Amino acid sequence: MTPHLIQRRRLLQSLALASAGWYLPGRAAAQLRLASDPFALGVASGSPASDSVVLWTRLLLDGEEALRLQPGPVPVRWELAHDEGFTRIAQAGQAQAVAGLAYSVHVEVQGLEPDRWYFYRFAAGDAVSATGRTRTFPAPDAMVARLRLAYASCQRWEHGYYSAYRHMRTENLDLVMFLGDYIYEYPNASQAVRKPTGGWVQTLDDYRGRYALHKSDADLRAMHAACPWLVTWDDHEVQNDYAGTSPGDSGPPVADFTARRAAAYQAFYEHMPLRASVLTRAMAGLASGAEMRIYQRLSYGRLASLYMLDARQYKDAQVCTRDGKAGSSTLNPAGCASWQDPARSMLGAQQEGWLDAEWGSAAGKATGWNLVGQQSLFGRRDFRPGPGQVLWNDGWDGYTAARTRFTDSLRRHAVANAVLLGGDVHENWVGHIKADYADPASAAVGTEFCGTSITSRATGKANTPDILAENPHFVFADSERRGYGVVDLTPGLLTTTLRGVDDVTRADSGVQTLAKFAVQAGRAVVEKA
Ligand SMILES: [Fe+2]
Repeated sequence: MTPHLIQRRRLLQSLALASAGWYLPGRAAAQLRLASDPFALGVASGSPASDSVVLWTRLLLDGEEALRLQPGPVPVRWELAHDEGFTRIAQAGQAQAVAGLAYSVHVEVQGLEPDRWYFYRFAAGDAVSATGRTRTFPAPDAMVARLRLAYASCQRWEHGYYSAYRHMRTENLDLVMFLGDYIYEYPNASQAVRKPTGGWVQTLDDYRGRYALHKSDADLRAMHAACPWLVTWDDHEVQNDYAGTSPGDSGPPVADFTARRAAAYQAFYEHMPLRASVLTRAMAGLASGAEMRIYQRLSYGRLASLYMLDARQYKDAQVCTRDGKAGSSTLNPAGCASWQDPARSMLGAQQEGWLDAEWGSAAGKATGWNLVGQQSLFGRRDFRPGPGQVLWNDGWDGYTAARTRFTDSLRRHAVANAVLLGGDVHENWVGHIKADYADPASAAVGTEFCGTSITSRATGKANTPDILAENPHFVFADSERRGYGVVDLTPGLLTTTLRGVDDVTRADSGVQTLAKFAVQAGRAVVEKA
């Protein structure tokens, strides 16, 4: 049997066990070698709907050896309550944590009331997890007064502490949208703030270990426990600058990149509050390149549609590269024929078609704001002041035909109040989505807020006046500060507050408001607030 088939068979067996439901344990959980705190990776919730939410945890057993030797499923009890004291239980049950999925647990609680806060916790043996707080979304047809969410991305471990999350926790949020680079596959960084990271991440065990490292941070765990998250990924959850099934360019190459990608995707599932259907739909052939679909649209009442896109898994390879690297800055790409090739896609034909259909559908049109979480900076970013252009070929700039199809779709369906949220570039960029970035006089078809990183370092100088002047569709840029953005939505107004930590090298860093912007409903204009 090929390694692919063995991996696939194990995955199928694990899923069968995990979905078997009420399993009567063959032996008492107390006999299992649970780690001193089997819930050391914390709890999380996500993918909320108006009647359901996913509750997540992953058990730690006592050491790697025990993880390998524990053959059977481990029963994990869960409770969801109306109150933090768990005196009014809404629902309770038992899930099975299985070795094939790293003892992760994804409980999809159904039949909940819309627009409600709940508390949840897990128990295994005599250990009880931390208490998490989560919420359901309002019913799709409900009139909703407000939504408050944060967007965040890029949290390289060695580059700093997650004090951003400690401050985010005080923001009283309904939701976090995480836009990629939850882990990085690199070994230790030079001038590391935190050690150790470990070596290159390539195998399933490596990826699991890297997620566990990140979740050893108490501020990250606390933010997961504070409210539900919607998550997507970018390149570093697999490898720097990979695109579709084309490998990226960091670290020693692996013999079978598709198998590496499958391992990375499985580890992502194991550590995120995703619905089990995300993995079960993929299980027929993840190791041979089948998709793991994580893009989706959710309604937050009539106030907003929340889109989470996947601009990595289906992406065509970068073109016009330099120095044999997948991603690179490209001088004057107009002279490189494949740059404008309309056959190249960022989202893949299927996702592009799905998004176009969503924007044309009655459900898509029933909501006021169209908030699109995606990986990167959307608008053109020319690094070279004056004549000539230097553009980054891994971002939307390297996929100009696909970007135009995106904006054409917005215009064709007259999508009101399109707002793109992004990450990836480790810099804050705020501006207007343009029908034609080459023409400053062309129509604005929406607004864009690309967020800085939680910790990952920036290398550019985004906020120099000549760079902003070169890209007049942007009204603000900053590469100095790490942090996150907070979006407040009401039917008539969007307000975005950019928050930056004072010193990412300190776990006790303070936070400042860098800038605040407003967008009135019906007008694609970013104003200072
Ligand atoms: Fe990043």
